[in-house]
Amino acid sequence: NDLYAVIGHPISHSKSPRIHSLFAQQTGEPVEYTAIQAPLDDFAGTVRQFFERGGKGLNVTVPFKEQAWQLADQRTGRAEKAGAANTLYYDNDRLVADNTDGCGIVRDLVDNHGVTLKDARILLLGAGGAVRGVIGPLLAEQPAELVIANRTVTKAEALVDLFSDDAGNTRLSACGFGEPDQPFDLIINGTSASLQGDLPALSPKVIGAQTVVYDMMYSLKTTTFNQWALDQGATRVFDGLGMLVEQAAESFRVWRGVRPETASVVEELRTD
Ligand code: ATR
Repeated sequence: NDLYAVIGHPISHSKSPRIHSLFAQQTGEPVEYTAIQAPLDDFAGTVRQFFERGGKGLNVTVPFKEQAWQLADQRTGRAEKAGAANTLYYDNDRLVADNTDGCGIVRDLVDNHGVTLKDARILLLGAGGAVRGVIGPLLAEQPAELVIANRTVTKAEALVDLFSDDAGNTRLSACGFGEPDQPFDLIINGTSASLQGDLPALSPKVIGAQTVVYDMMYSLKTTTFNQWALDQGATRVFDGLGMLVEQAAESFRVWRGVRPETASVVEELRTD
């Protein structure tokens, strides 16, 4: 079997080994996929060792995605702009870094949930690494408007500057959480506020009856952010489990040239 792994710190709760073994079963690809906890001070050495032992590909998760991007000899276009990588592999003796996170959220929204991104008005919450990774792929869908709101407004403004050349006809802007006061077609929570039991301080006016709400986090029960949205009258709320499975499917496709079917895998994980 060809060896793959997810590398992070901590790593024991990662769902990636389960997801990729379901993909391997389903496609019949000879893939073995494990989890590696790299020491915080030796990500590069752990990666080197994995490939020296014949490993074929790595997924990279918190807190090493920026280091993976740095370490690579070569980056795909979508990784370059994301400033972080979640997928590594060798091509002609060169370590290649890719980023499938943005592709993952777009596929989950469009293919799995039937959300129209073209001409949509999107509110994107947060300005950290997770948000930076999805801006390019969201802009590629040509929304009418993409508003990046963050607690620290200067960080949202920096992202707007970084992506202004990719915006095309999309109105791209930055603001604080309190500013938007009209309903959006889609609100994506890319903050880690819920890890501290917090909510971004949004006006309830951003939620309309038609607003789709997407939390990049996922959990067994409704996420804090999605519960807030439901309480404001939203009816279509999704968590990030579909994104997790879709980014994995895209990595699998990059490595194996075969795209696994994802719906049954999401279903399986929900009932695990
Ligand atoms: P990640 O890799 O998950 O994106 P990050 O780069 O540390 O992590 O970014 C975390 C994001 O969540 C940031 O947008 C952060 O806001 P600031 O830029 O103002 O720090 C946001 N965030 C974290 N805790 C938050 C909280 N309690 N309330 C609101 N936003 C929060």
